[in-house]
Amino acid sequence: MRINGAEVVRTVEVRRTLADFIREDAGLTGTHLGCEHGVCGACTVLLDGEPVRSCLLFAVQADGHEITTVEALGTPEHLSPLQQAFRDYHALQCGFCTPGFLMSAHALLRDNPQASDEEILEVLAGHLCRCTGYTSIFDAVRAAAGRPPGPPPAEPWPTPTGAGASSAAPDAAGGTAPTTPEPHAG
Ligand code: FES
Ligand code: FES
Repeated sequence: MRINGAEVVRTVEVRRTLADFIREDAGLTGTHLGCEHGVCGACTVLLDGEPVRSCLLFAVQADGHEITTVEALGTPEHLSPLQQAFRDYHALQCGFCTPGFLMSAHALLRDNPQASDEEILEVLAGHLCRCTGYTSIFDAVRAAAGRPPGPPPAEPWPTPTGAGASSAAPDAAGGTAPTTPEPHAG
């Protein structure tokens, strides 16, 4: 497979996850593993440009495909505009969840540079952060979409509906949408 534009060729067991391949075989540790079952979104990478949960894919499934990880977005010296917005709006504390948020938001803004608040929130709802507060992350992505901070929509976070709404359900990113996160200040 190609990762961030470079060919990476390894022989792996068929059960090796794409996440482990990226981190351990390719040495790209920016992709994080949290839940390892598709809920938290920390392991999100792009597969042929589309966000996927790398913990839910086997490395062999990515054979012949293009993978993009957070390392491709920018460098500590030259952050991408989205990364800079995360810094400016204090959208990270421990940073563990950040690579996943960045990859999903990056894909959203690539396809829709002026994504609406609702579209941003729908993407963010597929990720879990346990220390920053979603308001900051929302403001950062919104800033990257060219809008200043402001109050979120009256219904701030998409609410999963239907059977099994309280548990992980498949989402368009090839992973799962977690239980609706609770926004909080800060
Ligand atoms: S580690 Fe993959 S979704 Fe949590
Ligand atoms: S910044 Fe710590 S989990 Fe999100």
